[in-house]
Amino acid sequence: MSDSQAEPHLFVIFGATGDLARRKLIPAFFELQNREGFGRRSVVLGVGRSPMTDDEYRTQASEALVAAGLDPDDAGKWCGACLHYQSTEDGFETLADRIRSIEDEHSLTAENRAFYLALPPQVFESTVQGLADAGLNRSAGWTRLVVEKPFGHDLASARELNALVHSAFEEEQIYRIDHYLGKDTVQNLLVFRFANALFEGAWNRDRIEEVQITVAESLGVEGRVDYYDEAGALRDMVQSHLTQLVTLVAMEPPVKLEAGAIRDEKVKVLSSIRPIDPERVVWGQYSASQVGEERIPGYTDDLGQESSTETFVGLELFVDNWRWEGVPFRLRTGKRLPAKTTSIAIVFKEAPISLFGPQHAGHAQSNVLMLTIQPDEGFELFFDVKGPGDNAPLKTEAFTFSYAEAFGDLPDAYETLLGDIIDGDQTLFVRADEVERSWEVFQNLLEVPHKLAGYAAGIEWGPPATENLTGEHGWLEQA
Ligand code: BG6
Repeated sequence: MSDSQAEPHLFVIFGATGDLARRKLIPAFFELQNREGFGRRSVVLGVGRSPMTDDEYRTQASEALVAAGLDPDDAGKWCGACLHYQSTEDGFETLADRIRSIEDEHSLTAENRAFYLALPPQVFESTVQGLADAGLNRSAGWTRLVVEKPFGHDLASARELNALVHSAFEEEQIYRIDHYLGKDTVQNLLVFRFANALFEGAWNRDRIEEVQITVAESLGVEGRVDYYDEAGALRDMVQSHLTQLVTLVAMEPPVKLEAGAIRDEKVKVLSSIRPIDPERVVWGQYSASQVGEERIPGYTDDLGQESSTETFVGLELFVDNWRWEGVPFRLRTGKRLPAKTTSIAIVFKEAPISLFGPQHAGHAQSNVLMLTIQPDEGFELFFDVKGPGDNAPLKTEAFTFSYAEAFGDLPDAYETLLGDIIDGDQTLFVRADEVERSWEVFQNLLEVPHKLAGYAAGIEWGPPATENLTGEHGWLEQA
């Protein structure tokens, strides 16, 4: 959210040869330096297990940039000027020496450093400990720790992880990533609600019938079966991304547009969520299907063995506070659904008395505000109009807004988040109490065994029981 010019700094990425670094972080650093007006030049030190020279790492990174569609010459030049590599095999004292020598080489005298843990959770602890033991948790400038999700796998482990990072770093130094918060359309939820008084008056239990949040993916688990089979959709998507969307839709206006105030309001929403009724949760796993000539594999084919891990969750929750009392929030997310789309449908109540009888009925739903987070970012506000001619049925039409038409391409979420880390703005990162509250919301579901139902990969929007979670409108999809 911040746009100040950055102070010179060193960004250390643990997990530098991993998928996240290659696909997201390296291209984002490149863009941050090159996009007009950004001008945040990071010197990046990649850290990984394999021994490698700077030049070998630069070649790898340059290939990743070219694969991301960037010009090979620009990519090569940037990698040569800004990238270094160090193996963890040499230990944290050697890493500390290397950091100091790179800072000398690039005249980074202020000792501003960020450490990004793009690592599997099993090695968080040893890495945080290693940084602290080598004295890298403090410097003469600023030192920031960036932690990727998953932040814990339940409430107890999230608390332990918080205790661990707090043993070496202050909360003000910690940036817990939920990349959904880096999406412009997600940040726009605050702007949409609090810069436009028009909607705020209707944003409550008197006017809203239900809120539906859909995060649908068309891909399967891709190369991440080991992680995913341990996690499942509730931990991987619901506790993090969908819960963040719930808080931004439901929160009260913050006292100011500042990290502490915004995060306070989000925590209040999480604390108001009623324990979720396990009867109102649908767990699913995609099964093999045939689409035309193509056979789409089931989850157990992707995994190579039987599994009780869910790849789909649909559920209903309630925010028990004055604004939202009685309004269901219906959430669903899954892999290998028919399309990739993330949307929030705000379903408004019907007019109290219908003047227009059945002969006019042409509409299937009441007023709906469909906020499309991705792809085709934008929104549609549906309303009824009179069709032309005598006794014509009502028609449902929409006011639409498209980000692409108004602004062209949006920055990738990681560009925004890395920029904010560099600028020291914690607004878009998850605070310690927030992450614990969000685990608390789902803890009872993690503790009870659940019954899985199948859904046909690429064809169905989850198991059939998902339909019973919604009201008379059914699930609303982007037009
Ligand atoms: C990640 C999950 O956090 O988000 C993945 O671990 C998921 O399983 C991804 O595919 C979805 O992100 P996006 O930005 O493509 O919606």
